[in-house]
Parts: sequence; structure tokens; C-alpha cells
Amino acid sequence: MNIILLGPPGAGKGTQAHRLVDHYGIRQLSTGDMLRAAVKAGTPVGQQAKAIMDRGELVSDDIVSALIDAELAAMPKDTGAIFDGYPRTRAQAEELDSLLAKHGRKLDRVIELQVDEEALVDRITGRFTCAECGEGYHDRHKPTSVDGVCDKCGSTEFKRRPDDNEETVRHRMQVYRSETAPILPYYEEQGLVSRVDGMASIGDVADSIDALLDA
Ligand code: AP5
Repeated sequence: MNIILLGPPGAGKGTQAHRLVDHYGIRQLSTGDMLRAAVKAGTPVGQQAKAIMDRGELVSDDIVSALIDAELAAMPKDTGAIFDGYPRTRAQAEELDSLLAKHGRKLDRVIELQVDEEALVDRITGRFTCAECGEGYHDRHKPTSVDGVCDKCGSTEFKRRPDDNEETVRHRMQVYRSETAPILPYYEEQGLVSRVDGMASIGDVADSIDALLDA
């Protein structure tokens, strides 16, 4: 199973990808997570990407496609992949086709999470993650069960992303509208797009995605 989760910043791609990993035993390939790891490690890619990400703009197509290529090369062929935050431009969509062919895979489905952009500002500015295991939370929509303690690993350390402030979020949404949303027709022509109401609760969105994948 090879799936793309598509939607603007805060649509719930990462939240649903984490759950799909647990549910179906497939691998999440998040270019955002890969780039943040590179920034943290101070690699040349990270040094190049940091300022671009902080401004909410797109890192070059070559860099992100090389990251995906390396991940696919390292994965067993029979392990499925969820592409989260990639592709984001028409050039990346075409490059993904080449990479899938190169690694003996084919795209099964593109799931678009349909959302109201205004609600996303609230979602993103309230988001935080466990610094230890990466579990995602939200101040109001998904708080920890015990205040200040990660439900998954018990850590008491949490972090927030530097690009999760309102000004940058609005710019990221504009970039999504101009660069990423226009790739939908590319996949529609191939009959691969399914749409899910991303404004429903996290559990209901998950049920809708499962219904599509189990059909
Ligand atoms: P990336 O990390 O991919 O960020 P993004 O696309 O902006 O998406 P987010 O991670 O912000 O949102 P999400 O949809 O995963 O939402 P989440 O599940 O966390 O990219 C960051 C940057 O890296 C880019 O700006 C760019 O610079 C660079 N980059 C990355 N990939 C690139 C590429 N391919 N090309 C070029 N540059 C690239 O949910 C958000 C919050 O809402 C959470 O708190 C969650 O708990 C909550 N929530 C989720 N679902 C629901 C729900 N149904 N109801 C209520 N709350 C919900």
C-alpha cells in the first residue's frame, strides 16, 4: 500500500499518518520530519533548510526528492508507505512517479483531507509534541491525559515548532494554495483521489480513512 496524504498545514496529515503506521504496519515518510531531523543534526541539508522552513517556504524539490529516494531505497519492498507532506509541487509529483517505478512500487491512493483554513490556525498554534517519542498533542483538542505527562512514553518534556506562529502559518497556507493544491488535478486524471472531511473529530477522520483503505 502506497498512499499520499494531502492537505494544508494542520489538516491532520501527521496525526492520521501516525495512526495508520500503528494500524497497518506501514511506514510514514514525512519530508517535514526528515528536514527537522536534518536541522537538529546540523547536516548540510539542515543548514540549507532551516531559514526556508522558518519562513514557511518550500525547500528545493531536489533536496526533498533525494530524501524520499533514500528512504525508499532503505525500506523492504513489501512495506507500504504513507507520503506525508510530499509531494508538494508538480515537479515533486512527477519525481515521485519516477521514484516509485525505480523502487518497484505503485501509488494506490491520494487522500485529500478537506478542511476550513481558518480553523487550522487554531489547530497549529495549539499544537505540541512529546520531545521524547514525538507523540502529537493539542492544547484543547488533544491534551495529555495527565497534565504535563506524555500518554505514550511518560516523558515530561514537550516542544513546539518554530514555524507554528500565526504569521508563518498563514504564509504556509498561501504556499499550499499556490504550489501544492494545483497537483490535485494531476492525480484526479489518474482516478487516484479520495476526499475525507478533515474537520470531523480525529477518530471520525480515522474511520473514514480506514473505510477507504479497507474497501
Ligand atoms: P510539514 O512538517 O510537512 O508541515 P505541514 O505540511 O505544514 O503540515 P503540519 O505538520 O503543520 O500539519 P499536519 O497536516 O501534519 O497536521 P497535524 O496532524 O500535526 O512541513 C514543514 C516545512 O518543511 C514546510 O513549510 C517546508 O518548509 C518544509 N517541507 C516539508 N516537506 C516539503 C516538501 N515536500 N517540499 C518542500 N518543502 C517541504 O495536526 C495539527 C494539530 O491539529 C495537532 O495538534 C493535532 O492534534 C490537531 N488535529 C489533527 N486532526 C484534528 C482533528 N480532526 N480535529 C481537531 N484537531 C486535530
